[in-house]
Amino acid sequence: MKKPKIGVIGSSSMDLVVSSEKRPGAGETVLGESFKTVPGGKGANQAVAASRLGAEVYMIGCVGEDFYGKQIINNFIQNGVKTDYVRSLTGMESGTAHIILAEGDNSIVVVAGANKYVTPDYITNTISFLRTCDLVMIQQEVPEETVAYTAQICKEIGVPLLLNPAPAREITSTVIEQATYITPNEHEASVLFQHLSQSEALKQFENKVMITEGANGVRYYNGEREVLVPTYPVEVLDTTGAGDTFNAAFGVAIAEGREIEESIGFANRAASLSVTGFGAQGGMPLREDVDKMLGGGQG
Ligand code: RIB
Repeated sequence: MKKPKIGVIGSSSMDLVVSSEKRPGAGETVLGESFKTVPGGKGANQAVAASRLGAEVYMIGCVGEDFYGKQIINNFIQNGVKTDYVRSLTGMESGTAHIILAEGDNSIVVVAGANKYVTPDYITNTISFLRTCDLVMIQQEVPEETVAYTAQICKEIGVPLLLNPAPAREITSTVIEQATYITPNEHEASVLFQHLSQSEALKQFENKVMITEGANGVRYYNGEREVLVPTYPVEVLDTTGAGDTFNAAFGVAIAEGREIEESIGFANRAASLSVTGFGAQGGMPLREDVDKMLGGGQG
């Protein structure tokens, strides 16, 4: 099978991760157990995951001309992600995510840094490249106008767009119409479709909106009925990056020409493997790891 070509527009950050037994409340200080610095950012995570799953991946993003920026670019190279469209910005700091892992879940504060400069102008310079992609992916750690512009451009040039609306923010009905696939979690779905119940939103956007429900699975409407594609039970070490792995794997499977339900099944397998490793990218599987979950089959 020909490798699908995917352009990922999005954030590239360094994750500063503290593990602690207890999450501090407002005004409280607690003693943590460990501190680690690992590559992250939703865009970069999705690019790395898609590359590990066998796609030809180009990252479109910005880093600062600093220590983290160099590490982020090296990490792309080590993971086979093409950096032709990654710009290193003089005088800017790279994006950072400040993560607390406690009580079985994470809390994250993101500081955009250079990711603010992934602007519509920057995307304009990549249009001739985007035309050559089988799929474009974008998330919401870049400016809102960049998401809107990308949706418009992808529609114009006829390249499918997978929009992962994370973190949550409102999106215009035009962007919802222009995107090909939208993958909110339940909270993001409630922000996106404020006047619709979850079932109404799925029905209105059949084969477009896939709502991720954590350990429960992923739900969409296939034109006839609501389908819940279940996840796989695993021992969870760190859930950071599970959503990114899901999106990347779904994107790879769709770009390979698979049906939606099959693509979600593949993505659920990849995402369940991702939570067994530390850090956003630490547990992201290779293609053969996902295929093995089906006993060595097609994945
Ligand atoms: O989706 C996980 C990512 O969100 C982390 O890697 C962190 O960078 C945050 O932006």
